[in-house]
Amino acid sequence: MTAKKASAIANANIALSKYWGKRDEKLHLPQNSSISMTTEGLFAHTTVCFDAKFTKDSFVLDGKNIAPDTPEFKDYIGNFLTFVKKEYNITEKARIESKNNFPGSAGLASSAAGFAALATAVNSALGLGLDEKGLSILARRGSGSACRSILGGFVEWKKGVKDDGSDSYAVELATADHWKDFRMVFCITSLSEKKIKSRAGMNETVKTSPFYAEWLKTVESDLARIRQGILEKDFTIVGQTAENNALKMHSLMMTTEPSIMYWNSGTLEVIDAVLDIRDKGMGCYFTMDAGPQVKIICLAKDVEKIMKKIEALKSVEKMIVSRPGEGAYITDDHLF
Ligand code: PMV
Repeated sequence: MTAKKASAIANANIALSKYWGKRDEKLHLPQNSSISMTTEGLFAHTTVCFDAKFTKDSFVLDGKNIAPDTPEFKDYIGNFLTFVKKEYNITEKARIESKNNFPGSAGLASSAAGFAALATAVNSALGLGLDEKGLSILARRGSGSACRSILGGFVEWKKGVKDDGSDSYAVELATADHWKDFRMVFCITSLSEKKIKSRAGMNETVKTSPFYAEWLKTVESDLARIRQGILEKDFTIVGQTAENNALKMHSLMMTTEPSIMYWNSGTLEVIDAVLDIRDKGMGCYFTMDAGPQVKIICLAKDVEKIMKKIEALKSVEKMIVSRPGEGAYITDDHLF
């Protein structure tokens, strides 16, 4: 039998209306729908090969071998491979290599990009013939928000209501070309790995935050506003709603027991600068995920001025500017 090999590239994505909490931990079914932007230029490049001559599954991430007996392997790649092999009757072991062109596990959606690239590569290597919906569902089995990185531009992950997750997948709301001057400026305030993985953190939040039920009550109207704002390219509506939505999610994290605090002093320094820039009349907003980095939402015409102001802050190690990007795609450029 010949080796079945394929490679794919997938951009990360950053939610404008967040997902935090699952209704099914195994299938990664969310409690609420979410909307994101696929971020051009922050991507994962992944090669997978299934071959009868391999004696074990293996995974190399950014040049580091992740041993199969570690939770880092078992809870992520291991679970995903077990599902794929069972679902599609695959007997061969897999070799996977993945590279991010940005720091992993620091609240920059590396697992979203990684699993979207892996699902796309697996689909091609095994000839599964999945369409976008099928790919989104497969990527979701690796990591919830990965289902959004299959698609480009502005994307909505419909939470679905079915127990088997067959209606929980992402759809494109608008292409990357729809809003060409929309920007996110990533302000990196720490490159260390986060202490609490989003997976563990969100489960604790659902169980213990007294505000969780309130969050779910407001999510639908945030989604509707952001959806409409994207379609009408109403920057103020999208920015205001996204910022408020992110603060609500972080309030949930902070009121989890024990509390989950992803911010550092740099996070506050950047937030303060954004508020100051806005006070002076420029339209810009912020959002944050499961890490201390702040993503500034703005329009292309204001990027330079905003970056000048942020550059002066002591706590910002690095900035990356991103615009709406394409969905995941196959490449002939194999990592091995
Ligand atoms: O994709 P996960 O399961 O690691 O969760 C990501 C959650 C947030 O990034 C904090 C929010 C979101 O909607 O992307």
